[in-house]
Amino acid sequence: MAQNWTPNSWRQKPIQQVPDYPDQAALAATEAQLSTFPPLVFAGEARRLKSQLAKVAEGDAFLLQGGDCAESFVEHGADNIRDFFRSFLQMAVVLTYGAQLPVVKVGRIAGQFAKPRSSNFEKQGDLELPSYRGDIINGIEFTPEARTPSPERQLDAYRQSAATLNLLRAFAMGGYANLENVHKWMLGFVKDSPQGERYRKLADRISETMDFMRAIGITSENNPSLRETDFFTSHEALLLGYEEALTRVDSTSGDWYATSGHMIWIGDRTRQIDHAHVEYFRGIKNPIGLKCGPSLQPDNLIELIDALNPTNEAGRLTLICRFGHDKVAESLPKLIRAVEREGKKVVWSCDPMHGNTITLNGYKTRPFDRVLSEVESFFQIHRAEGTHPGGIHVEMTGKDVTECTGGARAVTAGDLQDRYHTHCDPRLNADQALELAFLLAERMKSGRDEKRLVVNG
Ligand code: TRP
Ligand code: MN
Repeated sequence: MAQNWTPNSWRQKPIQQVPDYPDQAALAATEAQLSTFPPLVFAGEARRLKSQLAKVAEGDAFLLQGGDCAESFVEHGADNIRDFFRSFLQMAVVLTYGAQLPVVKVGRIAGQFAKPRSSNFEKQGDLELPSYRGDIINGIEFTPEARTPSPERQLDAYRQSAATLNLLRAFAMGGYANLENVHKWMLGFVKDSPQGERYRKLADRISETMDFMRAIGITSENNPSLRETDFFTSHEALLLGYEEALTRVDSTSGDWYATSGHMIWIGDRTRQIDHAHVEYFRGIKNPIGLKCGPSLQPDNLIELIDALNPTNEAGRLTLICRFGHDKVAESLPKLIRAVEREGKKVVWSCDPMHGNTITLNGYKTRPFDRVLSEVESFFQIHRAEGTHPGGIHVEMTGKDVTECTGGARAVTAGDLQDRYHTHCDPRLNADQALELAFLLAERMKSGRDEKRLVVNG
């Protein structure tokens, strides 16, 4: 076990991004209550994800991580979860088919509620109120009541996470994710887009292959891997009081696990080496992520890796890089070289969303071509450095929203007002997500072909 660590040792450290709860006694009571609730995930599942991520670190699998920027209480419904899952499965199948690599599937879901903010307050006219920090903390409406942090929201977030996870498990294991359904994952509004056409062709080929396999006796009834898929959950573990309450000892190994989700990550704003978040994360055994932005220097990164993964376990640490399309070429190579020089085992994942946010017509948006451009650079840089571009981390939804501009069915600046529903950052719609998946599949395939050429001389 990590030295001098306890689930609450983070409380002795400086901390960023803490909500100002007016009633500390109520907060403590809520945390005490949460600590009696059942875990949302099991240690064995987290270990299974870690071993799949170890394959990604070795270059033998690809990580797909995606979901809402922030989940919200009002949008908690079966249709939203199903549509997200369909869109996610489409991406996964495109990647698996195109790259011919296993895809590790991790949702930003069932716990993605707390948001770091650049400012503690928001001003509208003469009124200044606390910033919205995510539904687990306060409400988005601009009123003093909504914006006051309320501990009870943590109980609602816990219950929403449990219900979401329950449905996702049913989808993943209960037949919905069966490859025989590959055509049925198509969402109505994607059907007549160029991506929809492309997807249909790919789905036809998979169905044909399935028919062939059925003829020779390999069916989804006798082969669980055709019928089921492992789907894992993840979120930014920002609200450490909540995380601590759900930190439990695994009885089989005696180790501590965060049981709020399978994988949790540290945000770019809270990764100070001597602060609370790094302290909390070093003691739990889950696979974890670390967001890496342009301000992260190679030496700091190596220090963080030593603190977070002292035994250099493959699959433990995913570096989620979010530099921006214009900064990735400057920021990424030096980090890769430091990691390679020190022989650290990590998963390199690309978050092409967070460094590419701009404001247009008063809306926060992300131009799709910049998202693609960061992804392209990420792949090129890894190819040049001889390292594995291991994964992608995106903010996406199964809905037909107009939040990011561009894409094959172009969303224009003027369209943003039509269906702009996000509670926080702009997300790819299902069309744009699918387009991104096709591009990724192509890049991975060409990388693989190149490698083969080298091997075969
Ligand atoms: N079990 C395999 C996997 O998860 C194949 C599979 C089944 C699959 N359903 C899927 C792949 C849905 C992608 C999407 O990879
Ligand atoms: Mn975001």
